[in-house]
This record gives sequence, C-alpha cells and structure tokens, in this order.
Amino acid sequence: MNEEASKTKVIYVMGVSGCGKSTIGHMLSKALKLPFFDGDDFHPKKNIRKLSNGIPLTDEDRYNWLVKINKLAKDQLEENSCIIVCSALKKSYRDILEKEIQGQVEWVHLVGSFDQIFERLDKRENHFMPPELLKSQFDILEYSKEALEVNVSLSPEEIVQYIIKELKDKEINIKSEFGLLGLGVMGKSLCRNLANKGFRISMFNRHVEGIEENVALDFKNKHEELSISQPFDDLKGFVESIQEPRKIMLMVNAGKTVDIVINDLLPHLSTGDIIIDGGNSNYNKTKERFEYLKSKNIHFIGTGVSGGEEGALKGPSIMPSGDLSAYNEVRPFLESIAAKDDNNLPCCTYIGPEGSGHFVKMVHNGIEYAEMQLLAEVFGILTATGKDPDEIADILEGWKETANSYLLEITISILRKKEGGDWLVNKILDKAGNKGTGNWATIATAELGAPTTMIASALFARYVSFYKEDRVEANEVFRKNSSSIIDISSNDLLNTYHFARIINHFQGMKMIHQASETYGWNLNLSEIARIWTAGCIIKSDLMVELVEVLKSSASILKNDKIIQYIKSLKPSANKVVAECILNERPIPCLSEAINFLNSYTTAKSSANIIQAQRDYFGAHTYQRIDDDSGKYYHTNW
Ligand code: 6PG
Repeated sequence: MNEEASKTKVIYVMGVSGCGKSTIGHMLSKALKLPFFDGDDFHPKKNIRKLSNGIPLTDEDRYNWLVKINKLAKDQLEENSCIIVCSALKKSYRDILEKEIQGQVEWVHLVGSFDQIFERLDKRENHFMPPELLKSQFDILEYSKEALEVNVSLSPEEIVQYIIKELKDKEINIKSEFGLLGLGVMGKSLCRNLANKGFRISMFNRHVEGIEENVALDFKNKHEELSISQPFDDLKGFVESIQEPRKIMLMVNAGKTVDIVINDLLPHLSTGDIIIDGGNSNYNKTKERFEYLKSKNIHFIGTGVSGGEEGALKGPSIMPSGDLSAYNEVRPFLESIAAKDDNNLPCCTYIGPEGSGHFVKMVHNGIEYAEMQLLAEVFGILTATGKDPDEIADILEGWKETANSYLLEITISILRKKEGGDWLVNKILDKAGNKGTGNWATIATAELGAPTTMIASALFARYVSFYKEDRVEANEVFRKNSSSIIDISSNDLLNTYHFARIINHFQGMKMIHQASETYGWNLNLSEIARIWTAGCIIKSDLMVELVEVLKSSASILKNDKIIQYIKSLKPSANKVVAECILNERPIPCLSEAINFLNSYTTAKSSANIIQAQRDYFGAHTYQRIDDDSGKYYHTNW
C-alpha cells in the first residue's frame, strides 16, 4: 500500500437491516464527495435467495461476501477514501472487513431498538429481507467498542451532520475531485463556483514570503461554500490530494508562467492526469504545450474562459479544446460551472483539437475589442452632439430593445456613475490598455489572410489612444478651434451601430471558419455562437440570432434576413460616417464597417493597379480577366 494511500480511509456504516444504512451512506457520500458502495450489492445470488426465502445466512454464507467487500475497500483505498455500508453484525465479520487495512477504517453504527427498527422495516417496500428475520440479526449483533454510535431516532440529516462532525477530527484524507491552481480574481471565482456546484476541490496558491502567504487557507476560511475544500501552498500536497486521473485547472498569467507551473507540476503527476489552462494563452503556445505534455502521457486542455470575475463566479462561457477523451473527463466539472443558455444548456462545448479553444477565445476578445470601440465611438459622437453622460445613457437605454448586449448594459452603468458632482467617466484618462489578445487576433488575421478589419481597427484605435501626448500637441497644430456640433439623429446612429456590429460579427465568425479550414479543426460556428449567448463579455441578442444563422452558412452576409437588414441600415451608416468625417470626428470602427462592406461588395475593384505596380517594379506577374486558365503574365512596362 503506498504511503499516500495509507492516509485514505474507509467509513463502514454498520447496523441491522432497516436501520437506514444505505440512506445514510448515500447522504454521507454526497456530503463528503466520496465514492459509495452498498455491501448488499455484493451478496452472491444464493445468499439473496436464502434471505428472500426467510432463511438466515450462516457464517460460511457470509465469509466470501465479506472477503469480497474487504477487497473492494483495499482497492478503493489505493485511490481515495470511500463509504461502504454493510451489516457487519459480528466482530469476526468486522475483522474480515478490516483485514490488511487496520488503521484505515472508521466504523459508524446506526443503533436503535428492535421495535424502532421493526416498525421501519415493516414500512419498507422491495427490500429482500422479510422483517421477521430482524430478530435473528439482533440475536447475533455484537456491538463494536470502536464504532461511532448514532441513534436512528435522529433525522437522516442530523445523523449525517453528527457523523461528519465526529469524523472531522479523525483527519480522514478525502481526495478532491478537481484541483484549481492560481487564486487570482478569476481563480477564486471559479473555486467558489465549483464548490457551489457541490464539487470537492483542492485549491493551490504559491507561497511568496511577505507577498502571498496562506492565500488558499485564508480564502477557504472566508467562504462557507469552501468548507470541504482543501487549501494548499505546497505543490506536492496539492497534487496528491486529488483523485486520479487528476484534473488540475491553471488560472495563472498567460505566457511563461504557464510553462513554469507545468514543469513544477510534472514530477508529481501520474500518467493520464489532465492539466487545463484556463488563462488567455496564445493558441500556438497551447498547441506546443499539448504536444509536449502528450509526450509525457499527460493530457492538456487549453480553454478560454470568458465573463470576468462575475462570470467566473456565476457562470462563464468556456471554450475547451484538446483530446475529446480528456475533455470528457473534465466535462462534468466545466459544464456544471458554465453559464446556461436560453435552453438551459451549458455555455461550454468541446471546441476542437489542439489550441482551437484558445484561438476561439482570442477571436472572442477580438470581437469584444471592436464592440467596445463601437460603443466608444457612439459615446464620442453623442458627446460631440452636446449631450452629457446621463443624456447619452438615456439614449442607449432605448437601444436595449433592439441592440441589447452585456457591453451596452455596462456602458450605460458606466455613464451613470458619478464621483462627487461629476461623471466618473469624464475623469478617466483616455489611454486604452490591453493584455494582448486583440494583438494576437490581429496577427492571426494577417497570418490567415482573413480581412478581419474591425478587430484590427479597434486594436489600432487603442494604440492611437496611447499617443496621448502626441494627440494633445497635434490637436493644437491641426484642428480648427471651433468645436462644430455634429448633426446626427440618434436613430441614424443606432442604425449605424447595428450595421457595424453585424460586420464585426461577420468578420469574426469568418475568421474562425477560415482557421478551421486552414488548420483542419472542423469547428462548429453555430455551437461557438451558442456558448457566447451567455456568460461571456460579447453575449448579446445578436449572438442569439446568429446561432440559427450560422447553422446554414459560415457567412452571415448570405442570410436573407441579414442581407435585407444591412441594406436597410446602410443609408443611415453612410450619412453618419460622412457627417463624422466632415466634422473630423474619429470613428475608425464605424467607418471601417462601411469601407469593408463597400470593398466586400465591389465586384470589380482597383486591385488591378496593385498587380500592375507589383509587376512593374518586381515582375511579380498578374492574371488577366480575358484568360481564365489561371495563367500569369509579365509585361515589360
Ligand atoms: C473575458 C475578457 C478577458 C480579458 C479582458 C481584458 O472574456 O472575460 O475578454 O478575458 O482579459 O477583457 O482584456 P484586454 O486587457 O486585452 O482588454
């Protein structure tokens, strides 16, 4: 028996038939998150027949049955503590059940008088022991000096609570079902979410002298729902506290930290264990880690987790990828904590192989950047029409009916937020930061050759915002002093907002489709949209609509309803963009939406000039519209 296993224990719940062993055993198993076994399930058929015909079992009848249960206990203790219910009326029976596992056994005896139990048995249906046999059981019953005795006059709930309280000091090593490493904002929220769903978890946070000390322990003690969770700041203990095959979710900063943690974990892991990276890691790195860990017989699941601190606590959108077999091991946990869509289905689905989950999360963030930029541009335009944040919030409230989204809702809240007599938003420095996912998305769009121009425009708008000092200086040099009032109706602006959002979602989904084709991932766009209808940052009414639309095509601009809608919105968009340009109002994303659609719907473009120029200076050759053979030509210009 290995050293670690010796800390695991079997809790035998004993007593005469009818004392409620199975009921209490099941409830105890649920409360302690431990495997449960009913000894009666291990009787050979001949014992069942004897009992059903009212014939008492002999010690010989019981011997093989007890040996079988003892073997079950030994096997279980190799892996985890467990609960086994068995009458175990005689000491000699209990000696067989304890064979080779002395010191790893706790006895709980459900005691009651003959009358108490006779009455209960009489009421029970489908039990194979006729009540008159009860007397033969009481006749041979030998009380155990070691057993924790609980009277069956208590309610089942009181009995279970009493047992747990009494066993608590026995330091029963009860292995966790799931481990979470990294107790930052998201990691803590996910721990609480897992615990609230009834999972028994181990939690780890590193120990950094004077900076991060007792993080897991303090966190556990702060939240009631973590009462049966196990806190650690030593990695070996954390890993050994988790049932195999271990499921360990990392919630650490993307980048080299993930690799450092993986290498720290490896010496403690066993074949078949599963590491889940829930950070915003780069999908290429996830592919590398997947392959590296595969060579170590460790499964690796890269998963996007979207929804921020609140989403992680109440239900995020989860985008896992890797081997499907490994996903199926962690599916119960991830799908349980995920947000639920309108049909109460988990916003968590197996995305595909390798790093496709992190790729999809990256595109989620790219779409998010553009959605945020569009709202920023709307805010800028309405401000330029002379409205204050509260008046703008009033207008956006009206947009909820047709354009509702999480980002619209939080923007309204942001606009309402006051600090003293002024709006807080007016005091925030206009330099937009980023943690890198929009950057990666733009790089990926270039690598794929997918014109995801809204994401790129949003990213570069953030970069321009970072040129704050330049902008202040350039404003003095280039801008006419008069601050012209833009003449735009809020209805035209709403139409333009709708228009640009459709283009943003079209481009994002098309990029995922292109990656799926390029990398052979076979991604399901409709499913991806479905898990984005709740829990994540870009959840919206539009996303709900796209779930159906994407079932028939990867291009939402091929959907008749969207085509008609886009056509109806375009005049407003043209008007708004033109008015902004004329008034020098920066609208990189709103204008890009128009430019993109104009380009995307131009059958004959001016790219022939590009080809001619390339051939002129670089002899890069060109194809001809009067030759569809695919032949390339060069002219000596
Ligand atoms: C989410 C968010 C989250 C992201 C923040 C910050 O889906 O919950 O996208 O993953 O980290 O949005 O991202 P930036 O700093 O790049 O804006």
